[in-house]
Amino acid sequence: MVSISIRVGLLICLIASITLAFHSTFAKPDRRFPLPEHLHVIQNVSVIQIDNEPTNISHIVFGIAGSSNTWHSRSNYSKLWWNPDTCRGFAWLDKRPGDFKSDHMIIPYKISKGWTRFRHVHSASAVRIARIVYESFRLGLPNVRWFVMGDDDTVFFPENLVTVLGKYDHNQLYYIGGNSESVEQDLMHCFDMAFGGGGIAISYALAVRLAQIMDSSAHPLAPLVSLHHLDQLDSLFPDQSQMHSLRKLISAYHLDPARIVQQSVCYDHRRKWSISISWGYTIQIYTSLVIIADLQMPFQTFKTWRSSSDGPFTFNTRWLNPDECQQPSIFFLDQVRKVGSGSVTTYKRYYGKEGKNCKRADGEVQRIKVSVLKLDSEYWQNVPRRQCCQIMNGGSIKDGNVHIRIRKCRAQETITI
Ligand SMILES: *[C@@H]1O[C@H](CO)[C@@H](O)[C@H](O)[C@H]1NC(C)=O
Ligand SMILES: *[C@@H]1O[C@H](CO)[C@@H](O)[C@H](O)[C@H]1NC(C)=O
Ligand SMILES: *[C@@H]1O[C@H](CO)[C@@H](O)[C@H](O)[C@H]1NC(C)=O
Repeated sequence: MVSISIRVGLLICLIASITLAFHSTFAKPDRRFPLPEHLHVIQNVSVIQIDNEPTNISHIVFGIAGSSNTWHSRSNYSKLWWNPDTCRGFAWLDKRPGDFKSDHMIIPYKISKGWTRFRHVHSASAVRIARIVYESFRLGLPNVRWFVMGDDDTVFFPENLVTVLGKYDHNQLYYIGGNSESVEQDLMHCFDMAFGGGGIAISYALAVRLAQIMDSSAHPLAPLVSLHHLDQLDSLFPDQSQMHSLRKLISAYHLDPARIVQQSVCYDHRRKWSISISWGYTIQIYTSLVIIADLQMPFQTFKTWRSSSDGPFTFNTRWLNPDECQQPSIFFLDQVRKVGSGSVTTYKRYYGKEGKNCKRADGEVQRIKVSVLKLDSEYWQNVPRRQCCQIMNGGSIKDGNVHIRIRKCRAQETITI
């Protein structure tokens, strides 16, 4: 009985703190990675006890905010990341979805009973999150350190999520994350503004980079933990459905989780080219030498979510030349192959609307092959350093192919023009 009332007390504290947390974030990450704003991560307060085993996936309970109307299509997102053997959690729906057959590859759903309980909370999203926390907590699953809440069109990268949560001490009280709707710029809505097909390609490329930047605005290097609002976003790969795109990205993720969409930059000094690699996703070639600080900055091909204005954003953006032929060449992930303890990924040139009409100094390059050793997840435990990359075979282009190797920087080696 005592334990029950303590639990209820904790629960009330928790709900109170969640409501509070919509306006403030308790956690002050220093050398920890900040979590994306759109994830609500709440600690199981009753694990404040001696347990110093490293955090693993079994310590997390996922709570997905869903609706019976959209669960038919959106449940498919969970197939991409949900591992029924290791993950714990539920999607919480308002009512039973009609004519829906779940299978074990989909996160199981439960019907939420907390709808009326929180009706006096004003913000709809506060209600949603409070409800899911309440329901997840009430399940009383053993050995839960973290509750991770997200919307139903979110894809998680669980290995990286574990890495990030592992940096927080689960013996202290944290509420990490925020209310996505209150943070306008949190939404990376990529518009293909005035640029037609070619512009689309750039905005595709940026969707993920952008997500990453948002997710790590306080830290230039951080693992990709999740992608969200996938239903509102253009497909990540051109000419492919969002589902197909995500499967492709995730196939690379499975080979090298810690490296997914991490940026590497190499320079071809002889030709004066800059090559920016977002591993597992895209490569861009600039036929000029561009400093790394500029390459890290996203192009402005998107607008703020609610007001559809050109800013302000919480990060700097750079101007994109509307002339497609003046934009950098873009290559999208094509194939993924495990080789020994590493991988070879290939990226294929994407022709935008202008197609082959653009005369490009790098036009000869059709495919880029990138070989790299798997990044140890320990990499994120230390102060992460960008890796170096090297253009192989003296930069020669054979049958349209260029070969690049990403590797640890040597002592004294720096990435500069
Ligand atoms: C996760 O950690 C717990 C200890 O807290 C351990 O018992 C369990 O075997 C670990 N699970 C995995 C999948 O590593
Ligand atoms: C989702 O998957 C189901 C099968 O599980 C399929 O019938 C449905 O068409 C899919 N929906 C989308 C939008 O991909
Ligand atoms: C929190 O963790 C403790 C200790 O592992 C466990 O007994 C309890 O059931 C967990 N509570 C919830 C709500 O998951």
